Amino acid sequence: MYTTEAGLIRQDMKMALVHERDIHRVAVPAYSDIEHQTWATLLANQQRVLPGRACREFLAGLEMVDFPRDHIPRLADISDRIEATTGWRLVRVDGIVPDEEFFALLASRHFPSTDFIRKPEELGYTPAPDMFHDLMGHVPLLTDRRFCAFFERFGQVGVRAFELDHPAKQWLPRIYWYTVEFGLIREHGQHRIYGSGILSSPDEVLFSLSDQTEKRSFDIEVVSAETYDIWHMQQKLFVIDSFDQLEDEFARWADKLF
Ligand SMILES: [Fe+2]
Repeated sequence: MYTTEAGLIRQDMKMALVHERDIHRVAVPAYSDIEHQTWATLLANQQRVLPGRACREFLAGLEMVDFPRDHIPRLADISDRIEATTGWRLVRVDGIVPDEEFFALLASRHFPSTDFIRKPEELGYTPAPDMFHDLMGHVPLLTDRRFCAFFERFGQVGVRAFELDHPAKQWLPRIYWYTVEFGLIREHGQHRIYGSGILSSPDEVLFSLSDQTEKRSFDIEVVSAETYDIWHMQQKLFVIDSFDQLEDEFARWADKLF
């Protein structure tokens, strides 16, 4: 799921305003054979490119979640697997979630996921969220306690920023973009990927680690001031040393805000 900066939403991107918190009460869509095949193709593509490129926490989570290879999974089943590890749960949404609602979901350890899949012609990248992005990109790290601690804190700070109508409302989506969506991490001196926007796109996986991208050490002050473009491959990426660093820097930054 993406958060957004004002003005970047297209008319044809649905805004999700209503969702059911109990994922088990949500009817499962009747997916077509083409849609199941799209899932299978996307998953097979990622399974090929991710070893040696995704960070170890993500790969461990991917193994734990064990997505079905030949059909679209039920959100309820995936939610149950996450809940058994970290207590986080999925909620089903129609599309992009407004930031205020998104932060409230994270703060209560819920992650919004769509239940529709992209068109076959959008296999490489789709700027609008679909369930392959939401599940493949985000779910594996929702099984990691360290990452989830950061994510919950991130949601709490977002909720507070909206309560106070604080300028951090604009800064937090940028931090989210350059970490949760497009973050890199150092692992044994190598760059590895933890950002969901990269990990759910085969093109972006290869591009992100190539010498065509600028990789800068993570600095939360820089990142919070850095705007972003959701329509193109990401040229500028920020690299954390560890999830500890991410959580600690974020906590220090947030403590100074309010
Ligand atoms: Fe996302």
